[in-house]
Amino acid sequence: MFKATLTIAWITCVTQAWIVPRPQNRHSTQLQVAAKIGRGVQRVKDSLTSAERSREDLKIGIAGFYDRSTKLWEEVWGDHLHHGYYVPADRTDHKQAQIDMIDEVLKWAGVDQATRVVDVGCGIGGSSRHIARKFPGCQTEGITLSPYQAGRGNELAAEQGLADQCRFQVADALDMPFADDSFDLIWSLESGEHMPDKKQFINELFRVCEPGGRIIVVTWCHRDLEPGETSLTKSEEKLLRKINRAYYLPQWCSVKDYVDLMEAQGATDVKRDDWSYIIAPFWKAVIKSSLNLKSVIGLLRSGFSTQRGAYAMFLMLRGYKKGLIKFGCLTCTKPLSKKTEKTESPSVDKDSEVL
Ligand SMILES: C[S@@+](CC[C@H](N)C(=O)[O-])C[C@H]1O[C@@H](n2cnc3c(N)ncnc32)[C@H](O)[C@@H]1O
Repeated sequence: MFKATLTIAWITCVTQAWIVPRPQNRHSTQLQVAAKIGRGVQRVKDSLTSAERSREDLKIGIAGFYDRSTKLWEEVWGDHLHHGYYVPADRTDHKQAQIDMIDEVLKWAGVDQATRVVDVGCGIGGSSRHIARKFPGCQTEGITLSPYQAGRGNELAAEQGLADQCRFQVADALDMPFADDSFDLIWSLESGEHMPDKKQFINELFRVCEPGGRIIVVTWCHRDLEPGETSLTKSEEKLLRKINRAYYLPQWCSVKDYVDLMEAQGATDVKRDDWSYIIAPFWKAVIKSSLNLKSVIGLLRSGFSTQRGAYAMFLMLRGYKKGLIKFGCLTCTKPLSKKTEKTESPSVDKDSEVL
């Protein structure tokens, strides 16, 4: 009898442990699969309607997008993930055009020396390493949302003998892991367009810049609004929404909006320019570079978001052609003190449009 009770108890335990939970596991697996399908359907719907992403989705999306696409980009284009400087317009040395972009921006901003530089949205650190070589002894810190990029940036710095000058880490530009007044040069080349809060972005750039330090922001903007206009046209907004889905971008702003944000920080020497005509040949060159077997195979391998990014190159071209997208260059100096911020008015550079 006792033996029979024990046997029943044992069977009950085993049944509870192995048989009873099974339907629950199956049920939860079914629920997980259903949730996954639901999320997939929602993503397709959002893509078709070019829905705006939440801040959190955007951050995760940016990291994933660059984690997946950077290797292919580096194989075809090298270590700079930005437009080239096309003067003369018919130049075909594209990699050199990208390096020239850095030199020309520094020249335009009047920077001929730097000792501590932060590269905000650094990609795989092409700008940091170039600046480190240009200004010997200079220390650079690069931040990106993509773990792949931060790792690759450090790897390339070590390979190129720059590990003691250049460091890269995963961090958010809207909440940088640096103390106030840490750098004399703030460098942001084509990352501002990813920032969902432009005011917070500019605040952070000013916070980590030392008083009297220089801030450089080169970024995709939409055209300035005309007097009397309160927004872009519906078709312009539609085009930008499609680009946003592909490149993980939030709402755009104009160069004038950036100038206003810098001036609100008491910036001096505010200077702006539109280099859309200088970078004009770039997207055609990128499209052409992708028309070879190696790139096509790489593209097929790197998944949907990279393929959608490739398609969006045509949308970028259209945006530039329409005068909707601007390649905006901005630079300014952080005021020496709060007092300077209130009493000094921005100085004027005669060669550029200054507001
Ligand atoms: C087009 S790439 C430009 C990379 C680099 N500046 C260059 O010119 O090679 C944009 C970069 O911005 C970074 N980024 C976007 N949003 C960011 C954020 N909130 N914080 C830090 N980096 C960000 C991305 O991770 C990526 O490295």
